[in-house]
Amino acid sequence: MIFCRTRRTVVRSFEEKDLETVYEWIRSPQILAPGAPARYSMEQYREMFARDGFQKGVRKRYVIELETGAIVGEVSHFDFFQGAAVPAVYEIGILIGEMSARGKGIATEVQCALVDTLFTATDANRIQAFTHVENPAEQRALEKCDMTREGRLRQMVRVDDTFRDWFAYSILRREWEKSPAYLPTAPWRKQAE
Ligand SMILES: CC(C)(COP(=O)(O)OP(=O)(O)OC[C@H]1O[C@@H](n2cnc3c(N)ncnc32)[C@H](O)[C@@H]1OP(=O)(O)O)[C@@H](O)C(=O)NCCC(=O)NCCS
Repeated sequence: MIFCRTRRTVVRSFEEKDLETVYEWIRSPQILAPGAPARYSMEQYREMFARDGFQKGVRKRYVIELETGAIVGEVSHFDFFQGAAVPAVYEIGILIGEMSARGKGIATEVQCALVDTLFTATDANRIQAFTHVENPAEQRALEKCDMTREGRLRQMVRVDDTFRDWFAYSILRREWEKSPAYLPTAPWRKQAE
């Protein structure tokens, strides 16, 4: 299933062949930095995929594929209130696991597309994202998607025995509707051929 397309990528559901590559990424402290590596084994990861292809659980997961067919990262979204609030609040997350694909605007491109697709396909009024305060690249990417930094969440997670603060970001539907970042001509969009 294709979740969305961007100028240079297709964001599609996981296939069996993606699992080893993505698992290597989510187990690597260097790639995740400053995040904490997944605590499940490859076997458990395979079982999680076999259950529903990462499509029916709390968090829906997709891979980011380039035109070459290579995958360079994964993205996810989930309903923050699990159906208990209407309209839903969606949270998004991203990992560009292929290091050679970083610094080329892919995280910006894909996260803008995620926001745009979620607002278009659902009745969400708010989309949010969190990131470590020591992660200027993600902060910049979210800001380029016109998300607003709302505040600092103190000691949100522990990484390497140190508690880390996060920044909270969001964009509201009324902001998305008026934002230049989401114009039909926005650079992240795949233009019709
Ligand atoms: C954060 C991450 C997603 C960024 O991916 P990316 O594709 O390299 O990001 P982009 O190329 O879209 O860059 C976004 C912006 O950050 C800037 N940037 C990159 N590294 C930076 C740094 N160390 N300091 C400041 N800005 C930086 C880029 O220049 C770009 O801004 P610009 O377009 O104005 O030049 C990637 O590094 C990653 O996967 N990190 C590990 C997981 C993670 O942090 N996920 C985020 C949620 S916690």
